[in-house]
Amino acid sequence: MKILNLYACLGGNRYKWNEVKEDIEVTAVEWDEELAKLYQERFPNDTVIVADAHQYLLEHYKDFDFIWSSPPCPTHSVTNHFLNAQGIERFPDMKLYEEIIFLDTFFKGKYCIENVIPYYEPLIRANKRGRHLYWTILIYQIYYHIEKHLQLLQIKQEEKRNIKTYVNFTI
Ligand SMILES: C[S@@+](CC[C@H](N)C(=O)[O-])C[C@H]1O[C@@H](n2cnc3c(N)ncnc32)[C@H](O)[C@@H]1O
Repeated sequence: MKILNLYACLGGNRYKWNEVKEDIEVTAVEWDEELAKLYQERFPNDTVIVADAHQYLLEHYKDFDFIWSSPPCPTHSVTNHFLNAQGIERFPDMKLYEEIIFLDTFFKGKYCIENVIPYYEPLIRANKRGRHLYWTILIYQIYYHIEKHLQLLQIKQEEKRNIKTYVNFTI
């Protein structure tokens, strides 16, 4: 299985992958040379590329079966409330949503995009775990099946709401 690990940093998200699946071929993209070097020391079998992850995704997404992306979170995080009050005024970086929309529309494989819980209502529904949000085709497939089965079962509206809340559907 060919996996693309974007915005790889030190590979915190990468640690358990070999436990889940043995035959994986990972390509990691990180633009900071020092971090890329440290990542390579930790995961000597991975291919590490020093490049802009966003552009790399656009040019190479078709070469992979699974794509993980952790775009930078500073412009989305709740810290922007007090940073703004201190005069640090900036837009949330829409590359996060560019990647979600792009992968969800054009990528044939599976993907997971991860970020912090933002200071605004997420623009695209995600799955929440701890302090992070995950946008993934797997979750969309699960939601699709839940919705379909709830319709088939003709469950009452209020019951539907309870079930959806239980499975974190509304986030
Ligand atoms: C949130 S961290 C990723 C954490 C990583 N997923 C982990 O679990 O260890 C974001 C990383 O993306 C890198 N980065 C930011 N913008 C980038 C870009 N355009 N291309 C490649 N790497 C980038 C930063 O240097 C940083 O290491």
